[in-house]
Amino acid sequence: MPTRIILDTDPGADDALAILLMLSSPEIQLEALTTVHGNVTIDKTTRNALALLEFLNAKNIPVAQGCSLPLVKPPHQAQGEVVHGSSGMGRTNLTEPTLKPIETHAVDYLIERFLAEPKELTLFAVGPLTNVALAIRKEPKFAQAVKKLVIMGGAIRSGGNMSPLAEFNISEDPHAAHIVFNSGIPITLIPLDVTYKCLLTSADIERLNKIDSPIARFVRDVTADYMEFYLKYEGFAGCALHDPLTVAAIIAPELLTFESHYVNVDISGGVSTGKTYADFMKVTKKPANIKVALDVKGREFVELFIERMENLAKQ
Ligand code: BDR
Ligand code: CA
Repeated sequence: MPTRIILDTDPGADDALAILLMLSSPEIQLEALTTVHGNVTIDKTTRNALALLEFLNAKNIPVAQGCSLPLVKPPHQAQGEVVHGSSGMGRTNLTEPTLKPIETHAVDYLIERFLAEPKELTLFAVGPLTNVALAIRKEPKFAQAVKKLVIMGGAIRSGGNMSPLAEFNISEDPHAAHIVFNSGIPITLIPLDVTYKCLLTSADIERLNKIDSPIARFVRDVTADYMEFYLKYEGFAGCALHDPLTVAAIIAPELLTFESHYVNVDISGGVSTGKTYADFMKVTKKPANIKVALDVKGREFVELFIERMENLAKQ
């Protein structure tokens, strides 16, 4: 039986690649997308989600639009536009979608879907955690109804990519992350510690584009600005497969090394706001609340990713 997933996302170049990977993975049944502010504005993330599903002939997957702003702090979408291009979809030219989001707000949609089938559905969250936090606050039964939550976010031993200490998704709504981390939902966290070991290179893009296909060209174009950013600011010719690596938690967990720890996020308002930390030494005596990936066979995951993209491109 494939794992039934609802994906909360802010597409976003690597979000788009995560959606492609889910749709090319028989181990997964992607049942809905909920959109959130993050890499770009909510109008753009929703538009990108719809355009992408139309491009991939996956019009049956509903999209519910979610929150436009973080709970407390102001948004930093300008930073996202530098990384993901002004539309959020790099240099792709997807046609304006004819699909529309469903009427229900993402927060209500999440509550409705998870309460209808308690402990049956897995939630993936690869953007700021605003929608998930509000679902937890709005419906007290929501947290117990989620079978498992896989999050791309945080930097445990690694430095941050938004501040020297904090990763973008968590730093973009640290208060939401604090609610989610302390909700009791069984959480698997995929932080920068592992995603930075999964680098898609320009040679990988060339290899994929030996197949003459709109999918191969899409992967090339959606990552073009992203790769330029990495070269300019981080000094390597490639880009990290942050959001796609969450999918490995289902399709190739053997590539990841997990440890269970008490993990929390700093919301004190100082320089380390948005920093995720694990209590490795058990100083707090608090029970482990998160299964966190701390190592990965990075190149093996990238190979798996390319193989799945090649299969999709050949269809
Ligand atoms: C995360 O931030 C976003 O820019 C990416 O889409 C990913 O979800 C990586 O820090
Ligand atoms: Ca994302």
